[in-house]
Amino acid sequence: MAHIKNPIIAALDVPSAEQALKLAELIAPAVGAFKIGKELFVSAGPDIVKRVRATGASVFLDLKFHDIPNTVAKAVAAATRLDVQMLTIHTSGGSEMMSAAEKAAQDTAKALGLTAPLVLGVTVLTSSTNATLSEIGCEADTERQVSRLAELAVKSGLRGLVCSPLEIVALRKILPPHIQLVTPGIRTGAEKADDQKRTLTPREAMQAGASWLVVGRPIYAAENPRAAAEKILESIS
Ligand code: C5P
Repeated sequence: MAHIKNPIIAALDVPSAEQALKLAELIAPAVGAFKIGKELFVSAGPDIVKRVRATGASVFLDLKFHDIPNTVAKAVAAATRLDVQMLTIHTSGGSEMMSAAEKAAQDTAKALGLTAPLVLGVTVLTSSTNATLSEIGCEADTERQVSRLAELAVKSGLRGLVCSPLEIVALRKILPPHIQLVTPGIRTGAEKADDQKRTLTPREAMQAGASWLVVGRPIYAAENPRAAAEKILESIS
């Protein structure tokens, strides 16, 4: 599998800016981007995005926006001004919200002379079951709901989706090939068992058609995070 870019996105799932920057510096040569999620962003604020970007690294801002279209568009514009390369929104916000998000990313980036961030749609959270969907009055079949939301995201102009490793093959069958699939739930087999139930190895996920792999604990909780990231990269090169 030849790659032009390094598809590993290391999740900086640590609670402080200092820990995040230390981890980022340690593993930067072995990964393609860093993911900043809710815990770090709420603790350290937008400044952590600027500090990670200032090292030259790409940033995936994973705040999963879900609100009225105008509010989501403004949040996406603000994230674009922070010069992030990827961000997430919930597809269950509907087509109007998704189109507004994509337009805000494109328009803001154009005005600033930046490349628009990849706005990624989140379909059904992997913590949801058929019972969860049923209790909130949705189609009580997670697979069908994932496909439905993925197709709606593409129709709404999104260029990428977050999906579980076990959804990649089914989504690749129904989505246009240019759609980027970003996949968490990656495990190498070397780490301790944890809360990720449905996993693939990095190599299996890339072979199934993932564009990017989000890797958290297998890197940051490893005894040697740099060596762990390098080993994952080797396994997919
Ligand atoms: O430590 P681990 O490799 O499980 O980290 C995966 C990262 O991807 C975490 O930041 C987690 O919040 C995120 N994520 C996930 N499953 C999803 C969506 C996001 O694990 N469905």
